[in-house]
Amino acid sequence: MTKQNGFEGLELGFDIPALPGMDEADIQTPCLMLDLDALERNIKKMGDYAKAHGMRHRVHGKMHKSVDVAKLQERLGGAVGVCCQKVSEAEVFARGGIKDILVSNEVRDPAKIDRLARMPKTYGCRTIVCVDDLANVAQLSAAATKHGSTIECFIEMDVGAGRCGVIGADKVVEIAQAIAASPGLKFTGIQAYQGAMQHMEKYADRKAKLDAAVALVKAAIDALEAAGLKPELVSGGGTGSYYFESTSGVYNELQCGSYAFMDADYGRILDKDGKRIDQGEWENAFFILTQVMSHAKADKAICDAGLKAQSVDSGLPTIFGRKDVEYIKCSDEHGVIVDPQGVLKVGERLKLVPGHCDPTANIHDWYVGVRKGKVEVLWPVSARGKAY
Ligand SMILES: Cc1ncc(COP(=O)(O)O)c(C=O)c1O
Repeated sequence: MTKQNGFEGLELGFDIPALPGMDEADIQTPCLMLDLDALERNIKKMGDYAKAHGMRHRVHGKMHKSVDVAKLQERLGGAVGVCCQKVSEAEVFARGGIKDILVSNEVRDPAKIDRLARMPKTYGCRTIVCVDDLANVAQLSAAATKHGSTIECFIEMDVGAGRCGVIGADKVVEIAQAIAASPGLKFTGIQAYQGAMQHMEKYADRKAKLDAAVALVKAAIDALEAAGLKPELVSGGGTGSYYFESTSGVYNELQCGSYAFMDADYGRILDKDGKRIDQGEWENAFFILTQVMSHAKADKAICDAGLKAQSVDSGLPTIFGRKDVEYIKCSDEHGVIVDPQGVLKVGERLKLVPGHCDPTANIHDWYVGVRKGKVEVLWPVSARGKAY
């Protein structure tokens, strides 16, 4: 058998889109491609920022679902661990060796609570979960006691996202007291992620929303301290807000995800100087590599990345580095590109910047990591499809 660099038994093209060592030009398309230099710069930059501001950075693993990327974030970016949204994702990261894991979500199904309670002993990892209801405290405590483990709890506050989470400092204190009194549980802190403002275009609009969130969190911390329950961690923040949490004097842990890859939708939001965040703050490191498969009409090229290669919930992809051609629509397996001057050739490769990185990563098996025109690594999307 030819040398496969650790991928023996996997057929190129059928099982895997590329092999380490091959030229970028030989990668099978469509597939996910990472620009490793750009990825590493993004990771290092956020890591340096967090360190300079005395913040822990618990990277959001639900974005990439990759143990390899999470480990790179620990190694290069000083990440303290990951957060993820599902118990199944948490188990993948735990099996992969990540030692500090937050399920940044409520877990209510008894079967999933049982799995969560087994994690600390099975994998030797710190396990934290969000809670927004007293009834959940009793469920978690029973499962942790059964497995002889400790589940740490964040009380989730709704600070404007309108999703899960309690409203009001009194409710936070009530649940924190219940957690502190429950065997097998530890009250560790607060999660206050304002998801609804992250993609607002203007910096000032995002700041106003986050200022309001900080005031709510501050009131909750004051009330907790008055009750003798000082939170160890106050966690939140995303790619569109991390500078606000980091300078709030209230949060001490960030949860950013998309900064590492960047996508077309996030790239459009503006920094404090009115510049798009994909034009300096972060680099596009994540692409769908596609190629032109038909140019039967003079002004239209059809590429092999359609709906099944990406999520378009946040808009269509853009074509990286090209102003002369535009991706205008897709069907299941086809992408339609307007090419008014007929410059594209059949077989020509294009890098699409997906509209939304998280759900796009979730529908692929592999990341092809490229540096200077060569495939360097092939990483599985380890928690692909782990939605339960
Ligand atoms: C709870 C939580 N924290 C953090 C993030 C990370 O956000 P971003 O990808 O915007 O950095 C998300 C993303 O949806 C989230 O749901």
